[in-house]
Amino acid sequence: MKLSNVISARFDKEGSTKLKGYREDGGYETFLKVLKEKRDPAQLIDEVKTSGLRGRGGAGFSTGMKWSFVPKDSPKPKYLCVNGDESEPGTFKDRQILEKDPHQLLEGVGLASYAIGAHTAYIYLRCEFKQGIATVQKAIRKAYEAGLFGKDIQGSGYDLDVHLTMGAGAYICGEETSLLNSIEGVRPYPRNKPPFPAVEGLFACPTIVNNVETISNIPHIIKNGADWHAKLGHAEDPGSRLWCVSGHVEKPGVYEAETGFKLQDLIDGPCGGIRGGKKLKAIIPGGSSSKVLLPDEVAQVTMDTPGIRAMGSSLGSAGIIVLDETTCMVDAVLNLMKFYAHESCGQCTPCREGTPWIVQILERIERGEGREVDLELIEDLASNIEGRTVCALADGACWPLVSIVKKFRHEFLAKIPAAARKEAVTA
Ligand SMILES: Cc1cc2nc3c(=O)[nH]c(=O)nc-3n(C[C@H](O)[C@H](O)[C@H](O)COP(=O)(O)O)c2cc1C
Ligand code: SF4
Repeated sequence: MKLSNVISARFDKEGSTKLKGYREDGGYETFLKVLKEKRDPAQLIDEVKTSGLRGRGGAGFSTGMKWSFVPKDSPKPKYLCVNGDESEPGTFKDRQILEKDPHQLLEGVGLASYAIGAHTAYIYLRCEFKQGIATVQKAIRKAYEAGLFGKDIQGSGYDLDVHLTMGAGAYICGEETSLLNSIEGVRPYPRNKPPFPAVEGLFACPTIVNNVETISNIPHIIKNGADWHAKLGHAEDPGSRLWCVSGHVEKPGVYEAETGFKLQDLIDGPCGGIRGGKKLKAIIPGGSSSKVLLPDEVAQVTMDTPGIRAMGSSLGSAGIIVLDETTCMVDAVLNLMKFYAHESCGQCTPCREGTPWIVQILERIERGEGREVDLELIEDLASNIEGRTVCALADGACWPLVSIVKKFRHEFLAKIPAAARKEAVTA
């Protein structure tokens, strides 16, 4: 299993957060070259499109394609919003970038803003990231002092203001339209789409929302070219990603690798195998909002969009949650459902009412008071939630739930008293 180091190349360098060190390593040269040569923004967008870069925030949408949706002839200001809310359980990669190489992100902010025609960018961070906030804030100040941001950057005629803004600890604020409402200072309910933010986003103006890791890829792509990126990893989902491995492995952490590797190789190799020599029970591979994989699926799956789709799951935010044989899957899914019920913003009835209802059912199964029909009830509830809400939080709650109930039905049944099994009830 080969690890890579595109995004994480500078993480362990001394002074990796400092502007001086970043510039010594060639940092900001690409941004300044683009400004000096007055590169055609449309060409930059094409470059990102051809690179094959997909968003790292969860949905995996083509970044260049998204940028191309910004209307060129709109008289309104355009905005870039960087999503650093990072609240998906099992996901802790953006934090590494914020704390260890903030200028890489800021150079990406400069390039992305220029490409989409934005003169104002917001970096939205979750408030719990105290160190990341302080590091990014200082990096922004240093970039302004060096004339890399502000008015008429290095005499190029291009203006860019970069603001740091913070959430207040709600998972929903990572949903892109909720994030926009949060920046606007109104209640952060997700908005109905369409219109999509690229057309009508922040303050009803064209806005691109991209994840921290997505934006951190941009300096590398513009510097090395679209073809360089397109050749990294899997041809249909290229690139080098930060994979967060948590749970029952010997060495949890953030590992960078090109897409297309076998998940089993990551677990057995860099992660040191399952903790204490235990057996693997399951992996939730893409942050908590993805469908669970069984050991035989883990043994086959490759970590790229086509590979994981073939196994019926998704890469999401690359949060790989490893569960060993000692894990009670009823407990695990109850824990997850409590999170979603708590974090539901309450705007849509199926999500607001359905997620706590599922928690109640799981709790009674856990207490040994469940009935076998509860398993069908859970599936029925989930089918009335999924696809029927304003945002994907509710879908994200249903995906692990339904897959766990289906693949670990025997563990649920084991907690259901014999008298409440179907045979007993219908006899
Ligand atoms: C409930 C919910 C929470 C989300 N949280 C995050 C988050 O913390 N960070 C993130 O980048 N994207 C998050 N997303 C995805 C964003 O809505 C959006 O797709 C993403 O920021 C787009 O960036 P990308 O194209 O670079 O991936 C979340 C989505 C949902 C539905
Ligand atoms: S699905 Fe849930 S979190 Fe999303 S808007 Fe509806 S109620 Fe809010």
